[in-house]
Amino acid sequence: TREPLVLGIETSCDETGIGIVRGRTLLSNTIASSMDEHARYGGVVPEVAARAHLEALQPAIEAALAEAQVTLADIDAVAVTSGPGLAGALMVGVGAAKALAVSLGRPLYAVNHLVGHIAADILTGDEVEYPTVALLVSGGHTSLLLVRDLVSDVELLGETMDDAAGEAFDKIARILGLPYPGGPEIDRAASTGDPNAIRFPRGMSRASDMAEHRYDFSFSGLKTAVARWVEQHEATGQPVSVPDVAASFREAVVDVLVTKALDACARHGVPRLLLGGGVIANKRLRDVALERAEAAGVAVRIPPLSLCTDNGAMIAALASELIMSGRPASTLAFGADSTLPV
Ligand code: KG4
Ligand code: ZN
Repeated sequence: TREPLVLGIETSCDETGIGIVRGRTLLSNTIASSMDEHARYGGVVPEVAARAHLEALQPAIEAALAEAQVTLADIDAVAVTSGPGLAGALMVGVGAAKALAVSLGRPLYAVNHLVGHIAADILTGDEVEYPTVALLVSGGHTSLLLVRDLVSDVELLGETMDDAAGEAFDKIARILGLPYPGGPEIDRAASTGDPNAIRFPRGMSRASDMAEHRYDFSFSGLKTAVARWVEQHEATGQPVSVPDVAASFREAVVDVLVTKALDACARHGVPRLLLGGGVIANKRLRDVALERAEAAGVAVRIPPLSLCTDNGAMIAALASELIMSGRPASTLAFGADSTLPV
């Protein structure tokens, strides 16, 4: 059978992503972000994101078709993120996908955003093997998953109980007077700081937390600890080294992420770890993961950043796998589900 030509639509947060794949081959990956519009609010504003998707979708679809050198009539199937994510933002993508599928008379596949992140790995062209543990870290989610089979067996091992990892970076940046989005700013400041200057707490890693929340994360305690440290030093006239605070904070986040991911690999006997999400842009996270994984005999896979941040290609890739495995299309009865489980 011919490999399906799939157009994927991603609108779960602030990126309007349109991707086109043929089978496992990436043809185009167009992304329009409303990040700049959220900057002055210091975080993603759901209503603003939803409106931005409405405006960005049509041009993004046209750009993706042009880049892939195909027309709408060529598309075999439409795929869309139905959740999890911001309800209003998801609804824009779901509505557009339904309209497109119905007007083209093509099947529609509603897919899970987190599983989409895992599917991104297929588009690198390298041989992908399962089982793998996947750590997905972005401004909207921090999830640890066990993937035994991409289309039929993905298990959520744990997730954040409060802030997402990227959100924590954004909030600490604000405390330190750095602009939004804070991840790249903290990263830059941290590059000249001492990661061992201050010992900040590693959330949910105490022995008593372990049994129930072994693979869950918490960053709100860390945020409070950093805020208190800065306040106390300022109140008593002690110097606050932004590079040292940034480096020590980054180290705490990276440590807890990598420790839990590799613990999951060890306990499940899985020698593979896939990283995904926008926080993977953090080089310290990549370096520590690679270094500790090597020592543990775990192979790490890190797709290019354009496939790690939210994008439509990963959504198309997942639908393509579903189609090639014989999965029937979704009926039109589904809606956006902001808390869709994997
Ligand atoms: O996946 P992504 O592009 O989109 C959403 O979550 O919507 O992730 C964006 C998040 C933001 O919170 C940003 O601060 C964070 O990823 N981020 C980083 C870095 N670059 C982006 N966090 C840490 N270090 C970075 N270098
Ligand atoms: Zn995402």
